[in-house]
Amino acid sequence: MIADYVAAAENAKKAGFDGVQLHGANGYLIDQFLRDGSNLRDDDYGGSVENRIRLLREVTEALIGVWGKDRVAVRLSPNGETQGVDDSAPEKLFPAARALDALGIAFLELREPGPDGTFGKTDVPKQSPAIRQAFKGPLILNSDYDVALAEAALANGTADAIAFGRPFIGNPDLVERIRVGADWAADNPQTWYAPGAEGYTDYPALQPA
Ligand SMILES: Cc1cc2nc3c(=O)[nH]c(=O)nc-3n(C[C@H](O)[C@H](O)[C@H](O)COP(=O)(O)O)c2cc1C
Repeated sequence: MIADYVAAAENAKKAGFDGVQLHGANGYLIDQFLRDGSNLRDDDYGGSVENRIRLLREVTEALIGVWGKDRVAVRLSPNGETQGVDDSAPEKLFPAARALDALGIAFLELREPGPDGTFGKTDVPKQSPAIRQAFKGPLILNSDYDVALAEAALANGTADAIAFGRPFIGNPDLVERIRVGADWAADNPQTWYAPGAEGYTDYPALQPA
């Protein structure tokens, strides 16, 4: 399976990408190994925190073998249940981001919905403060940020950058809108996973003044 990740990383290189981000979030494979609600193994990849992060570490190392550490990032979703995957003690598990720090990856991105989240919500506290201590490289936070929240997170040192998801769907020129302080268009959830161009390429950019 690690060889599959390597093949994917090599393909990304051949396709001309600038780097790769390992998806360790949202209940997908790496996340299933990380959390004790889904990882029921009794071999070297299950049980202790050290064992549960082994696959994350080994895959990340393999990706670094293809791309170099400056071109490999990781995404985690440390707080709360996602797609049926949960952990009984995230505060013990996720400081294991120290292992990613030791590998020197380009950045770590966290999807952290809050109790009022609009794309998943949870009362489980955000783990980013503890992860910030464990992982000294660039930390990117995501979920329900607007410009004001993003600037506050940068100013108080909670994050080095903020990732926006849904705002990019409705605003093909989101970066320009942030730059000039323009309003954001709302996206239409009805077309999120729909086939065809509608809801993907038909949101208008700002008209020049
Ligand atoms: C239509 C749609 C598809 C998404 N697909 C993925 C995905 O494949 N992998 C992933 O990690 N997150 C996915 N997300 C979650 C986003 O990456 C992001 O974490 C989420 O939208 C919260 O950020 P936001 O509040 O800035 O939108 C998706 C979100 C939407 C709306």
